[in-house]
Amino acid sequence: MLFRSAGAQVRVEAPDDLTARVRPSALRRAVSNLVMNAAVHGERVEVVARRLPSGGVEIAVDDDGPGIPAAQYEDAFKAFNRLDEARNQNIKGVGLGLAIARDVARGHGREGLLDHSPLGGLRAAIWRPA
Ligand SMILES: Nc1ncnc2c1ncn2[C@@H]1O[C@H](COP(=O)(O)OP(=O)(O)O)[C@@H](O)[C@H]1O
Ligand SMILES: [Mg+2]
Repeated sequence: MLFRSAGAQVRVEAPDDLTARVRPSALRRAVSNLVMNAAVHGERVEVVARRLPSGGVEIAVDDDGPGIPAAQYEDAFKAFNRLDEARNQNIKGVGLGLAIARDVARGHGREGLLDHSPLGGLRAAIWRPA
């Protein structure tokens, strides 16, 4: 599936037979927060849902934007925290997107994770640690 969001091209890849027991509205909000972030900071966004070898499902959102330095990952998750106000000044937000996404992940027995994306920007994922 391919669509545009906030000027970015978003590609979604999920196997048809991938199922998981989730709270749909909470998970939708979490994934939409991650996709909005990626679309605002990048031009190409990829959302991939897949089953992990260890069981459970991972949802990863990749972008080709500037990313976040690894040392700031934990700060980025904090509620009302926005990194680099100068870079963000034209972007609406109050700094809750990642905090909510991680809360939702934890509510599902999962974890929220930031990493370097193979696309060059940020990877934000909801996954189950092994
Ligand atoms: N995909 C991304 N690429 C680069 N920086 C990001 C990305 N997602 C989030 N950030 C940084 O992390 C901060 C916190 O994100 P978030 O909790 O969604 O708050 P908000 O989007 O409201 O600022 C953002 O202000 C931004 O600096
Ligand atoms: Mg946000």
